[in-house]
Amino acid sequence: MQGDAAVMNDSPMLAETPPAADVVASPVMSARRVDVHYGDKHAVKSVSLDIGRNQVLAMIGPSGCGKSTFLRCLNRMNDTIAHARVSGTITLDGQDIYGPGQDVAQLRARVGIVFQKPTPFPQSIYANVAYGPRIHGLARHRTDLDEIVTVSLQRAGLWDEVKDRLSTPGTSLSGGQQQRLCIARTIAVSPEVILMDEPTSALDPIASAKVEDLIDELRANYAIVIVTHNMQQAARVSQRTAYFHMGDLVEVGPTDRIFTNPRQKLTEDYITGRFG
Ligand SMILES: Nc1ncnc2c1ncn2[C@@H]1O[C@H](COP(=O)(O)OP(=O)(O)O)[C@@H](O)[C@H]1O
Ligand SMILES: [Mg+2]
Repeated sequence: MQGDAAVMNDSPMLAETPPAADVVASPVMSARRVDVHYGDKHAVKSVSLDIGRNQVLAMIGPSGCGKSTFLRCLNRMNDTIAHARVSGTITLDGQDIYGPGQDVAQLRARVGIVFQKPTPFPQSIYANVAYGPRIHGLARHRTDLDEIVTVSLQRAGLWDEVKDRLSTPGTSLSGGQQQRLCIARTIAVSPEVILMDEPTSALDPIASAKVEDLIDELRANYAIVIVTHNMQQAARVSQRTAYFHMGDLVEVGPTDRIFTNPRQKLTEDYITGRFG
């Protein structure tokens, strides 16, 4: 959690003034009036939200409030769900990601995703990281590929642990290492945005702490959106927090402010543990 002038100036008197808009300077992604239906189920309700560069946005809220569904809109993972209908506008660098010219494989390289359960391919550590650059044609020579694999594993904080066994299966690593391998795999195709859906909930506390530290380092180079049901984690890793409730985006703002001075009763009830 980072200080921010607007937040540090927060005082009871300022809290009386009308809420300032949650301004994000030159966002990398913008969602406007996004709705998602699964058949009759209205899972995401007219959500408008910006994703800032070099910062972590945490999405919190009770189970079933639409966090994962909204996250999956950002790289069109909902396209793979036959009965999901998405409407509204989502842009990446100003371009509509649902537009007719959008190559979805390309989009998913630019907006990568890491899931709750680590999902390495049943291949070597090297092959796991090299997979994306290979299919996207990012390396012309083996030495280029070696370089991408090395840098990606370094950025994912895994290099020192695996550099002597790159040919062993990714599945032979511990859970926490596997999750960092999945992060390395995402990084390898040079994304702009990394989506993470409860990335530590299958990990023990030490492995979780490593991933949290990593998230903090990664924001120097990427925009990150993390779904978490763990409010302490949201407070530790994010600069902005969005609170969802039954498909609505109730409130979004600087993390410090959301946790110390929520403007909505629903947010306050959730962060004080009254429900959820
Ligand atoms: N594939 C799906 N088909 C039908 N309904 C779904 C599907 N995925 C999620 N839902 C429903 O949409 C709502 C939001 O779910 P989800 O986005 O997974 O919430 P969260 O991630 O906040 O727990 C829930 O009511 C859930 O049951
Ligand atoms: Mg979810």
